[in-house]
Amino acid sequence: MNMNRRTLLQATAASLALPPIAVWADAKNPTLTAATSEIQLLPEKYGKTQVWAFDGIAPGREIRVKQGQSVRRRVINNLSVPTSVHWHGIRIDNRMDGVAGLTQPAIEPGDQFDYDFVAPDAGTYWYHSHSRSFEQVARGLHGALIVDEAEPVDVDRDEVLVLDDWLIDPDTAQIAASFGAMHDLSHAGRLGNYVTTNGKYNLAKSVGRNERLRLRLINASNARIFQLALDGLEGWIVAFDGMPLSQPSPVQDTFVLAPAQRIDLIVDVTAVVGSAGHVVQLDRNESFSQVAFEVMGESTRARRPAPLPLPPNLETKPDLSNARDVMLTMEGGAMGGMRGAMMGGQMSSMRDLMQSGNFWAFNGKVGSMDGEPLAIVSRGETFRLNIRNDTAFPHTMHLHGMHFHELDQNGHLGAFRDTTLVARGETKEIAAVADNPGKWLLHCHMLSHAASGMMARIDVL
Ligand code: C2O
Ligand code: CU
Repeated sequence: MNMNRRTLLQATAASLALPPIAVWADAKNPTLTAATSEIQLLPEKYGKTQVWAFDGIAPGREIRVKQGQSVRRRVINNLSVPTSVHWHGIRIDNRMDGVAGLTQPAIEPGDQFDYDFVAPDAGTYWYHSHSRSFEQVARGLHGALIVDEAEPVDVDRDEVLVLDDWLIDPDTAQIAASFGAMHDLSHAGRLGNYVTTNGKYNLAKSVGRNERLRLRLINASNARIFQLALDGLEGWIVAFDGMPLSQPSPVQDTFVLAPAQRIDLIVDVTAVVGSAGHVVQLDRNESFSQVAFEVMGESTRARRPAPLPLPPNLETKPDLSNARDVMLTMEGGAMGGMRGAMMGGQMSSMRDLMQSGNFWAFNGKVGSMDGEPLAIVSRGETFRLNIRNDTAFPHTMHLHGMHFHELDQNGHLGAFRDTTLVARGETKEIAAVADNPGKWLLHCHMLSHAASGMMARIDVL
């Protein structure tokens, strides 16, 4: 049954015939409480796993607003460590960006912070801790943030699918505490051994044949690049990182969802009654069901024509003929051949860098959020970033505060997104209009890499 939370609350209130006072109070002053919690993450026989979660569940509760509305949350920190919340992909007021140590002080244990911002764009976003993210996101501090279009999109249901992987010690069923391990910092990042969707390893939903679903895929993992495919579902990609494609793009083959990226799909269930459609995860030469859609009952619907594009979000197009060029060369990591880099204003040998847990450099410098900015751009100016990956690993680069266009081989505008995957050895160009003033992070969303030098800042004045 496809019931959203609001209809569910109304139904409950109606059946109790009581005014929903608690619901009203809650809706006026909503909180988001970060605390430890025990959840059934693994199959039942393993017992519970302690996570760090928002309101006791991981991923956290979905936050959903209409385009143009405000999101208000009082974040209460009941953890024993400082935290903060970043609203990933929202073209947000800088003060609300949630970067502890840059846009706000960290929220200390026992303390709270009020987030209040407008969600200008419809689409699929997410929220996550931005304090020691490589640990806090991996422990469960993240959730979906959905901004609905002004007019409902023509689908039978809307499914938010948060893909994640967890590094679990199978003997204890607990999250491995190896945060900041040298190997994770210097190689592909912290990769889990237990892959879930919405906190379940075998998520299954029942659907009807020929039903049309909107699937909102969010990659909340620290470092896993999901290779996905569809089976028993005919699908179209309709948005990347929240932003609609001008034309739905039919899924022919596999598609990639790198850490922090989102893909909105519209899929029609083509599997027959009694079987299932799947979002399939391909890992080396094996494939697994990431999510199953079990086809129940008789089909009552006919297939529909291909979907229309989603309504576009407002955008000023980059002016490439007057763009400011910014170079970003990524170096370091295992097998990267880096000899040394500047750290805290001093040239440091690879050995010194390693001893401080820093393995990567941007333009010859170990990056941090408080150093010199990579670029200072004026408001309204277009900047074009030339990202050269001179390392032996792929990196998933995220810019805060503004979406950018990926540029194709000929330098033409491609997808409009907030996180781009740069393969090893690849050079990729992106361009953005600096229309949002503030200090914005640009970092690798393989979170161990961000903690280990892959961080820079773009200041928009
Ligand atoms: Cu999703 Cu700087 O983060
Ligand atoms: Cu990286």
